[in-house]
Amino acid sequence: MATTASPAAAPAGPAPNPLRAGLRLERIAEPCTMVICGATGDLTERKLGPALYNTLLGGFLPPEFTVVGFARRDLTDEAFRAHLLDGINKYSRNRPAKPSIWESFAAGIEYHRGDFDDAAAFTELAKRLDRIDRDRGTAGNRLFYLAVPPSLYPEIIGNLERAGLAASGEKRTTGPKHGWTRVIVEKPFGYDLASAQALNHEIAAALDEEQVFRIDHYLGKETVQNLSVFRFGNGLFEPIWNRRYIDSVQITVAETVGVEGRGEFYDGTGALRDIIQNHGLQLLAMFAMEPPVDLSAEDLRDEKLKVLRAVKPMPPEDVARNTVRGQYVNGWVEGERMPAYRDEPEVAPDSETETYVALKLAIESWRWAGVPFYIRTGKAMPSRVTEIAVQFRRAPLALFSRAGVPQIDPNVLAIRVQPDEGILLRFGAKVPGQGLNIRTVNMDFRYGSSFAVDSPDAYETLLLDAMVGDASLFTRNDEVERAWAILDPILDTWSSGEGGPLHFYGAGTWGPPAADELLERDGRAWRRP
Ligand SMILES: NC(=O)c1ccc[n+]([C@@H]2O[C@H](COP(=O)([O-])OP(=O)(O)OC[C@H]3O[C@@H](n4cnc5c(N)ncnc54)[C@H](OP(=O)(O)O)[C@@H]3O)[C@@H](O)[C@H]2O)c1
Repeated sequence: MATTASPAAAPAGPAPNPLRAGLRLERIAEPCTMVICGATGDLTERKLGPALYNTLLGGFLPPEFTVVGFARRDLTDEAFRAHLLDGINKYSRNRPAKPSIWESFAAGIEYHRGDFDDAAAFTELAKRLDRIDRDRGTAGNRLFYLAVPPSLYPEIIGNLERAGLAASGEKRTTGPKHGWTRVIVEKPFGYDLASAQALNHEIAAALDEEQVFRIDHYLGKETVQNLSVFRFGNGLFEPIWNRRYIDSVQITVAETVGVEGRGEFYDGTGALRDIIQNHGLQLLAMFAMEPPVDLSAEDLRDEKLKVLRAVKPMPPEDVARNTVRGQYVNGWVEGERMPAYRDEPEVAPDSETETYVALKLAIESWRWAGVPFYIRTGKAMPSRVTEIAVQFRRAPLALFSRAGVPQIDPNVLAIRVQPDEGILLRFGAKVPGQGLNIRTVNMDFRYGSSFAVDSPDAYETLLLDAMVGDASLFTRNDEVERAWAILDPILDTWSSGEGGPLHFYGAGTWGPPAADELLERDGRAWRRP
């Protein structure tokens, strides 16, 4: 497929306001301070440090930009900078760090030692931020990133409020009466509907909803952002994006890894909560939503919420039929031996936690009535892949079967979210030569080869979005709660023992046979990505 990209035309006339939420033009952050709570943890080392470095390298951070790392460990500023640099040199897509760039970045990095349950540490933090505003010109703009387990959110947010650090601008009781305060929170957002509501309630006691940025890093990936452009920027696809042309949709989020040392967390969580509640249902909502009135964050999120509200909650008697849960036993993944899930450290030897789940969901709307949405996710799968595959209805007339050609495979449009971000269309074509043979072929668009630039990492996109105040790729409180409302009946039925058995599958396979039967019953089959 010829997919050479032409450079975007420069906008004519006066430059639009690049800070307007929803306009995804190239944007530069305002001067601000980013406080990373949990700055010595894994997420900071692997994702946040490299994302900030690449954002700076791309020219999107102003010279005043300042980072304050906040954690318990006793570190000097120098040791914390060395820790961040180490992470950048190990994990950044541009590495190693360029000395001149790093030096200018490092001059704006500080470390604040303290315990999140110590109110005095936050009072000291407030003084530090005031001093940074004065010395570095950060204009009272503060972004707090909660890179900590969710159990610590209430404590941190409560202490931010008590230290006068939660409010923005004029609402502040201490510090500058100008500038904004925003807070990014990591997943998981709750454990079920009740805990998500309680968490949202605690957050809402200290922060306005527009200050809260709930991150789901899948939404920062190029292909997911491109879904709107693909559907609403082209005349070709939207007219067929409905029950008249689409037979079914499959969403796959497959990981090759096991629990990677997070056995205790995972054993209390499972695949449904860890992946489907956030990434799975967000991909579904982005795929299935109606065209928004405008590209503003609120309009986009209103449309996503409408999809989630139209997903039919499963009655308990349907759970065993429409869900499959599995757990891996030992096997081989990408040439490496993988122990059984129950043999992983910190996993109960009789654990019933699912490491695989497949679901059949229905969206009760005019657009999607009758179109099944199959969603699956698993650990220890044969390959790491996230994609949305749309299977179209067959041609109404099997014209070529009269000429002895076997039935042609249905057309498939596969939207690859990772790896090899891109879009693939499968259709039947005549094999060259005499006689009539038809074979399925691919038209394949890949970001990597079509554009001469690297895609930013999702965290780069999302951090910059939060700095410019664009919440369109972050999840709103009502979306989170609605996602739990869809999954709670499944979780409850599983734990009551009525939701069907836990199936076992070998590591390195595509899940238990029961998941294949879920589709075979409907005359369909999973795509092998
Ligand atoms: N790691 C990932 O790739 C990843 C991916 C997606 C989402 N997440 C989410 O991101 C969050 C952070 O994960 P993580 O893997 O980075 O966690 P982590 O490695 O356990 O780091 C936790 C951080 O919090 C600090 N901390 C914990 N308790 C504290 C306290 N009472 N007072 C002050 N500091 C305290 C720790 O500081 P000290 O060590 O100095 O005590 C450390 O810096 C979690 O919500 C996780 O689910 C992580």
